[in-house]
Order: sequence, then C-alpha cells, then structure tokens
Amino acid sequence: MKILIIGGGSMGMTYAKSFLSSHIVKSDGMMILEKSEKKAIELQKHNIGTVYSKPGEFIKSADLIILAVKPQDIQVLFDSLKEYLDSQQVILSIMAGVKMQTICNYLSVTKVIRAMPNLATQIGKSMTVFTSTNDVTRIELVMVQNLINTTGKSIYTNDESMIDAATAISGSGPAYVLYFMDSLIKTAIEMGFSPSEAELLVAQTFRGTTDLFRQSNLPAKDWIKKVASKGGTTEAAIKSFDENKLNEKIEKGAKAALGRAIELGES
Ligand SMILES: NC(=O)c1ccc[n+]([C@@H]2O[C@H](COP(=O)([O-])OP(=O)(O)OC[C@H]3O[C@@H](n4cnc5c(N)ncnc54)[C@H](OP(=O)(O)O)[C@@H]3O)[C@@H](O)[C@H]2O)c1
Repeated sequence: MKILIIGGGSMGMTYAKSFLSSHIVKSDGMMILEKSEKKAIELQKHNIGTVYSKPGEFIKSADLIILAVKPQDIQVLFDSLKEYLDSQQVILSIMAGVKMQTICNYLSVTKVIRAMPNLATQIGKSMTVFTSTNDVTRIELVMVQNLINTTGKSIYTNDESMIDAATAISGSGPAYVLYFMDSLIKTAIEMGFSPSEAELLVAQTFRGTTDLFRQSNLPAKDWIKKVASKGGTTEAAIKSFDENKLNEKIEKGAKAALGRAIELGES
C-alpha cells in the first residue's frame, strides 16, 4: 500500500510517524507533499518517506491520499491535484468542516473518508470519529481504521453530521479540559502552591481520575457521589458548581462549538 500525505504540518507529520512506528507502512510506501520548500527539505531529513514540494505524476501511485492541510488552503490544493487522481484512489480528509460532498465534487472522486481526530494524536491517544462515502469498500475502511488506530481510538459513524458533533466534543474537547485545568492551577497558586506544584497537583489529579474512570463501568455521576460524602469538602464544591449552573454552561459551550462546526461546513 502506498500512502500520500498532503500537508507536512503538525497533523500530517504525526500521522506519518504513527503509521511508520506501527510498521503498517514502510518508509518506501510513504510520500509527503508539503508545499513549503523549506519545510520539505527539513522533512526529508527525518526518514519518513519521499518528500515532494510540488504535485506531480507520483500522486497517481498512491492508494490512499490523506488531506492534512488547513481548510482555507483547499481551493488551491484541489486545483493542483485534480489532474492526477483516479476513481480507485481513496481520499482521507482530516480537514475540519470540509464535507465529503465538497471533496467528491471538486476532485471528481467517489471514495472519500472524513475523520475528526484531536490534539492527543501527537502522543497516540487521540479520539477520532470517522465516516465514509458508500463507494469505500469494507476492506478499504478497515485498512484506514487500522491506520487511524495507530494514533489512538476511533469510532465509525454512518452519519456525516456526527462529525460536527464529534468536533464539538472530542475535537475541541482537549481545550475544555485544559480550560478547567487552568482554572484549578490558578486557584492552587492562589492557595499557596508554587506554579510547578500547582501544575503537578492538577495534572496528576486529572490523570488519576481519567484512568480510574476508564478502568471501571461506573458512570461519572456515581464516581462523584463516591467522592462527595455528605457534609464534606467535595460536596461543598459540587453544590457550588450546581448552584452556579456550571453543567449548563459547559453544555452551552459545547453546543456553541457544534453551531460553529455546522456553520463552517456550510461556508
Ligand atoms: N492540529 C489539530 O489538533 C487538528 C485536530 C483535528 C483536525 N485538524 C485538521 O488537520 C488539518 C491540518 O492541521 P495542522 O494543525 O496539521 O495544520 P498545519 O500545521 O498548518 O499543517 C498544514 C501544512 O500543509 C501545508 N500546505 C498548505 N497547502 C498545501 C498544499 N496545497 N500542498 C501541500 N501542502 C500544503 C502547509 O504549508 P504552509 O505552512 O507553508 O502553508 C502546512 O505545512 C487541518 O485541516 C485541521 O482542521 C487538526
């Protein structure tokens, strides 16, 4: 299998490195197309496959083409790619807000997979939700899911609108968690911890809690009840969160992200 990754930025490179370290693909089966010549020369040093800085005949040899450029760059990219594509090639797009129909229309292709990964791709702990057009075969889908799973976990959906929902939950989610962490770090510093102690306190608390949550079948609500004993300190904090309707604010925030994802997909 030959893979071409278009866009040698943060996501494109993370994908390339994850695929290679999983040994699903060898470096002679990997091609990178990065438009910045300076970046392309730099990438060439990393032994991640053959790096190109301009589209060309090599595109025809790719079985899978991964689109990892910023959505605002697609018009130029589509114009330069079209002449090298054929209907048997599978296109995997990780571009936020770009619908499969748009890719099919512009590139005259029919086998398109759209995925929404998140920031934790960089450490192999991403959450990716993906969908595909009807022309993608089961074998092709399994092949792509195996590749995606080298970057973390994944869920397949038949319904493309769920990609917007995934964007609002797992795509933007790392920023919500970091927002909460940042508030707690600031509070810990105010209470007298040094910044490095505060960061350790909060990071280790998040890590321990998420590991605990993942290792049991208990819903989050039940874990909260376990920690928040009657009349205790945790109950005082949760009561204050509830009185201030923090849950509604979080819901509103995630729904604002969903609204924006839908809006971007329509533009
Ligand atoms: N980063 C994330 O956590 C994340 C999460 C989910 C989805 N995504 C999606 O992943 C995609 C890539 O994001 P990123 O953070 O990796 O962006 P990035 O770091 O900016 O990488 C994009 C790369 O593509 C290059 N490029 C632009 N147009 C090109 C073209 N026509 N041909 C070849 N290369 C081209 C850019 O070069 P120049 O810099 O010279 O323009 C840049 O090096 C985006 O669509 C984003 O929505 C990212």
